[in-house]
Amino acid sequence: MVEDGGSLRPQGYALLGRAPSLGSRARGAGVGLLPALRGRGLGRRLLAFAADRAHAAGLDSVEFLAEPERLPWYLGMGFEPDREEWTLLAEATGSAALAAPEAQLELPRGEAPLWTWTPQCWDRTPARQRGALRLELRETQLELRAWFSREGQAILIHRVELDTPPDTPSAVIVAALDALRARWPAPTPLLLYPCPAGSTASAPPWSRALVAANWRVAQRSTVVRIRLVPDRLCALRSY
Ligand SMILES: CC(C)(COP(=O)(O)OP(=O)(O)OC[C@H]1O[C@@H](n2cnc3c(N)ncnc32)[C@H](O)[C@@H]1OP(=O)(O)O)[C@@H](O)C(=O)NCCC(=O)NCCS
Repeated sequence: MVEDGGSLRPQGYALLGRAPSLGSRARGAGVGLLPALRGRGLGRRLLAFAADRAHAAGLDSVEFLAEPERLPWYLGMGFEPDREEWTLLAEATGSAALAAPEAQLELPRGEAPLWTWTPQCWDRTPARQRGALRLELRETQLELRAWFSREGQAILIHRVELDTPPDTPSAVIVAALDALRARWPAPTPLLLYPCPAGSTASAPPWSRALVAANWRVAQRSTVVRIRLVPDRLCALRSY
């Protein structure tokens, strides 16, 4: 928290959190300053303070989610790009409201076959806002499991599992997602986050296939990371 000397009113913030699934990484929820205070080195000081706190707490790196226009600033602070993520948006296509979740599924803790958010975020979502469902896909006989939360008018899909091998054709995954879209009444907005950015070489082909099949990229961001080692911490503190 940056405070204005005389009145001690907060002028800026850096928010960091930790969660068991993140291991020794701290995840930044944001850093910001009131406009009048920007460009004087206070942003760097906020990051340095937050990084020092994380280091003192025994963590070994800090991650932030950088939007494209903020990426150069993080890189200038010594952060490195780790991965690109998309938030995908599509409208539901169903005709009847989903009255209630169809399944009480535990959120698995392992790697997500398709994608997943931090499991602890889902855990903290109030029970009345979150749900899970299981779909039998008629054509392929596959089972799809999805975990989601209601965010205002929208549905945020946290995790999708499909019992298929990694080399499953993208068309099968797109069809499975189409079946999921039909579970909510049109035009409910459905969001998938985080989705590996299909523009990167390491992204799975289904990520691009979803975009070719009416999912739009609503947001592009880069996860940036700084290792909390002495030379990086010193460079960050160089104000
Ligand atoms: C992002 C923010 C916290 C930065 O704080 P700030 O106090 O303005 O930044 P600083 O003055 O500490 O910047 C320090 C350095 O970054 C450099 N810098 C600033 N903006 C930059 C940019 N867009 N690209 C690259 N470098 C940049 C400065 O030149 C300075 O370099 P130096 O230390 O080598 O002289 C502030 O601008 C802000 O609150 N923005 C709105 C909220 C926001 O976008 N948050 C990030 C969400 S992803």
